[in-house]
Parts: sequence; C-alpha cells; structure tokens
Amino acid sequence: MRSTAPGLRARDEAATLHVDGRALAVRIGDTVAAALVDAGELVCRVTRLGEPRGIFCGMGVCHDCVMLVDGVPLRTCMTPVRGGMHVEVEADARSPQALEVQLDRVELAPQVLVIGAGPGGLAAAAAAGEAGAEVLLVDERPKLGGQYFKQPSDGFDVDEHAIDRQYRQGRELIERVERACVTVLKGAQVWAAAGPRELLAIGDGHAYALRPQRLVLATGAYERAVPLPGWTLPGFMATGAAQTMMRAYQVLPGRRVLVSGNGPLNIQVAAELTRAGATVVAVCETARATSPARAPALAAMAAAAPDLLRDGIAYTRTLHAA
Ligand code: FES
Repeated sequence: MRSTAPGLRARDEAATLHVDGRALAVRIGDTVAAALVDAGELVCRVTRLGEPRGIFCGMGVCHDCVMLVDGVPLRTCMTPVRGGMHVEVEADARSPQALEVQLDRVELAPQVLVIGAGPGGLAAAAAAGEAGAEVLLVDERPKLGGQYFKQPSDGFDVDEHAIDRQYRQGRELIERVERACVTVLKGAQVWAAAGPRELLAIGDGHAYALRPQRLVLATGAYERAVPLPGWTLPGFMATGAAQTMMRAYQVLPGRRVLVSGNGPLNIQVAAELTRAGATVVAVCETARATSPARAPALAAMAAAAPDLLRDGIAYTRTLHAA
C-alpha cells in the first residue's frame, strides 16, 4: 500500500521485478525491499533452522533482508530496483557457492574522507569543504541524508515549498555539501581497513581503495531491539525501518500496526502511519509518564528546542484524534 506525503508526486516510472519467478510491477526509485513490502512479500530469506526472516533494520545492519539478486546475495534494503532484476528468497541451507564478481579497482586519496552522510557526516563534509579541503563523502545508501534526514527516492518529484521541515532541513544540508564541492560516493559500503591508512569500499561494480589524509567517521546509530517471542517474524521491523519505508519510498509497512518501545521516534512514526492511512492499534511506551516534578526539565527543553516540542505536541494530537 502506498501513501503520498505533502510535496511529493510519484513519477510514472515502472519496471518489472521477477520474484521467485513471479513478475511484479515496481516503481523505479524503490529499493528491492520497499517494492517487496509494497507488494506484501515479506519473506526475504530462510535460516538453516527453517525460520523465515524479513526486513528488520531497514538500514543495512541486520542482514535479514539478504536475497539473491541476479544470483548475488545482497541486502535488499540497500539495493535499488532495476527493470528485469531476478530476486529469490535466500535459503541458508543451500550449499554455499563461490561467487566470482568482476570489480573495477579505483584508488582515491582525498585530503578528508567522511564516512556516513547523515546529519553529522553531511555537516562535517560541508565544513571541511567550505574550509578549502578536498573532501570525499561516502555513504552506502542510494540517497544522502542518513536515517534522520532520509530523503524521498528518485521516484518522486519534490515541491520544495510543500515538503515538511525534516525533509527541508536535510535538503539544505545536502545543498551545502554540493556548494562546498564535496565529492560524493553513494551506494558504496566501506567494509574493511587494509592498513593504518587504507580503507576498502565496494559499490556499483567498483572496489575502492581509499587513502585519506584525515578521516571522519560519522556512521550514526542503529536501534537496539528487545527480543520478544516472534520478534524475528517477517513483518516485525524496527521503527526506523518502518519510517524509511514511508519517508523514502511512500510505502506503508502495514495496515494495522503496533508501535512499541522507547523514544520520540516511535510517536513520530505512529503519527506518520496514522496520517498515511494505517491503523495504529497501540503505541506502547516503556518510559514512565512525565511527572509534575519534571516541570523544570520540560521548561528547559521547550526553551532549547521549541520546534521539537511543537512537533511532539502535533504527533500526540494526531494520535489522540485517531
Ligand atoms: S540489512 Fe536490510 S533490513 Fe537489515
């Protein structure tokens, strides 16, 4: 099921993805994972114990979304769809096969290498570029912005005046990076240190040897899930993954959703799900309700970040009204 956030208009660019031999019409700009969730195809792989797994973290960390994409095991949450792709559920029980993949070797030696293009990495790259350094910014996602400033995929036209503040702030930071003439490498994963001054990355058919003079690691954070019975079942996903489905691809992660855990992102995502047409059956928050004794801390928070407080009130109102 698709939704459309204010300021976004889907382009009519479709392609065909073959999933276990079945043809699926998908939207160009989606990742394979987003296209599968939209189609209600939740199983990506089957473990050696015969347990099905699906998209969980949505940010390249858990590897539960690995499928065979044109014969190569890839994380589908990081893999953009291409017309004619063949995708298969990966069964871990099958005998491992050696893969021979031809990669072009590229050597890069920037003055400053920034790994990670979320808010921290973008700000660091922009500042270094503005100071005159030759900067290379590397991120494994197809779009800059990271988890917090995740941007709409290339499947959408964007009305800059109608999108929400979070999209806009991210775009302003990305534009700053572009103005600072930072070289950007998207869809490339830094996977090893080959020595004290050499990092290895892979992406888009290239094997990169990166030899920077200075290194900034801005790899961000990922959610810590609490194991519960059934937590590995396909359809159970981290809040960040659910939000990526909606904000980047305008795909609803489900029609009836339970949001559980701790932190403000859960309330934001629950409100976004509600606005997008899903039924949020409950938001279960592990933190205690704020007591009157916390009033001074609340006042300090309101003074320091009034926008965040306003956002929080709006999310809560949306949920109460639903
Ligand atoms: S690595 Fe793709 S869902 Fe976790």
